[in-house]
Amino acid sequence: MAFDLDLYKQRTGRLNLDGIEFEAFEEVPLDPATLRCLQYMHDVEHHTVCYLRDLLVTSAHRDHEITSFMSFWVHEEYWHGEAIAEVLRRHGLAGGADRIVPMRHSLTIKDRLMPFTHMAGSAIAGPSFLAVLMTWGAVNEWTTQAGYGRLAQLADHPVLSELLKRIMRQEGLHIDFYSSQAAARLERDRRAQRLTRFALDRLWQPVGANVMPPAEVEHLIAHLFSGEEGRAATERIDRRIDRLPGLEGLGIVSRAAGTAGRTSR
Ligand SMILES: [Fe+2]
Ligand SMILES: [Fe+2]
Repeated sequence: MAFDLDLYKQRTGRLNLDGIEFEAFEEVPLDPATLRCLQYMHDVEHHTVCYLRDLLVTSAHRDHEITSFMSFWVHEEYWHGEAIAEVLRRHGLAGGADRIVPMRHSLTIKDRLMPFTHMAGSAIAGPSFLAVLMTWGAVNEWTTQAGYGRLAQLADHPVLSELLKRIMRQEGLHIDFYSSQAAARLERDRRAQRLTRFALDRLWQPVGANVMPPAEVEHLIAHLFSGEEGRAATERIDRRIDRLPGLEGLGIVSRAAGTAGRTSR
C-alpha cells in the first residue's frame, strides 16, 4: 500500500476541535486512572519534536518524502498534546507548558545521548537503518492508536471518545506512512530485515518509556493493555508486525504488555 503524500498534504492540519465540549468534563469528570493515562499521552505527544531531533541526525534527513511527512507529523502531534492539555486543565491539572517545561528540565543524560546513538546507528548500518526507524515508527503509531482506542472504551465518556476518535484518525495517517515505508524498505532486503528484527527484539520499548517514569509506563500498560480486550489489542498489533517482510513471530508488543502486567501485580 503506497502512501499518497500529496493527499496527506491536503488533509494535514491542526486537530479540529469544533464542537468538542470541554466544559462537559467539569460536569462529568474523568476518573483518576484515565487522567493519569492522559498525562502520559500528553507528555509523549509533546515530546514528538524531540523524537524529530533524533530522526533528523540520521540519513532520514536526506529523504524528501520522509522529511515532508515529518514536517506535518510533528505539527499534528503538537496539537494532540494541546487538546489533551485542555482536558487536563478542565480537571484542575497542569497541561501544556506547565507540564512540559519541568519535564524537559528533568530529562537525563540518556535523552542528551539520543542524537549521538541515532547518528552512530545510521552511520554504521547505512541505508538499512531507515527500515529500522520506519518500522519503529509504525509500531509506535499502532500502539498509540490502540492506546487511545482502549482509553476511550474504558473511560466511556462521550466527549473524550469524540476527541480521541479525531486524534485516532490522524494517527491512522501516521500509521499509513510509517507502515508503507517500513514494508517498502524491508521488502527483498535481508540485511534490513535482520537489523530491524534485532533492534525491535532487543531494544523496543513502549513509546514514552525512555522519557516517562517507570511507574507511569507500568500504569499505562496495566490500565490499557491488561485483561482480555487489552490482550486482544496487543496481539492485533503483533499480527500487523508479523505481516511486515521478515518480521514474523516477534511478539514484542504482547511481551511488553505481559511483562508490565506481571511486575505491576
Ligand atoms: Fe498523536
Ligand atoms: Fe502519531
